[in-house]
Amino acid sequence: MTIEILTVLPELLTSPFEHSIMKRAQEKGLLEIKLHSLRDWAINKHGQVDDYQYGGGAGMVMMCEPLANAIDALEKESKFDEIIFMTPDGNRFDQKQANGLSLKNRILIICGHYKGIDQRIRDLYVTREISIGDYVLSGGELAAAVVVDAIGRIIPGVLNDETSALTDSFQDNLLAPPVYSRPAEFRGLPVPPILLTGDPKKVEEWRQEQAFLRTKQRRPDLLDGE
Ligand code: ADE
Repeated sequence: MTIEILTVLPELLTSPFEHSIMKRAQEKGLLEIKLHSLRDWAINKHGQVDDYQYGGGAGMVMMCEPLANAIDALEKESKFDEIIFMTPDGNRFDQKQANGLSLKNRILIICGHYKGIDQRIRDLYVTREISIGDYVLSGGELAAAVVVDAIGRIIPGVLNDETSALTDSFQDNLLAPPVYSRPAEFRGLPVPPILLTGDPKKVEEWRQEQAFLRTKQRRPDLLDGE
């Protein structure tokens, strides 16, 4: 799978994909991440990609031409399966969306800045608008990093059995159960004895029960979902 990101700040997005699972996904050839600087398609030699908004008001708007020219140029290679715009007024990102996107071949993520992008780019090109939560970031880059990480780790073959995504929180509409490692007792707090029994069936039942209790307590809304 190839994920391309169009941004005015490509530097912000180098480190997040150079470590851990994202690094492994790329080394295994399962994920390719390409960063594109929108300024390569600026309208003048000053690198301009934004302008004042019609109707007045504070804040600049990312202009049509640089975005349209960038997308058209990138699509010369082949069409994107999805063109995603990161924006706080988009659909709230969740595991279900991540699962769906992980099955695509080639996607483009556009990072907004300032007041956002000209609405006509959203109308003409964007196929999906994603928000990572009800708060406003200074730009779409960190949100894009979140989305790429969530997608990348579940691309088939990226995780080994040990780290299987199937036991993640949200995969079955349940939060993950508590986990413990050595020592068996820490500051007077013991590991739940059932985890030391070596009985896989009992352990699994306990984990299911704990996942359910945790979800009921912290996120009852998940239990109402489909
Ligand atoms: N850009 C700024 N804030 C954002 C958010 N919450 N989600 C996605 N993109 C954003």
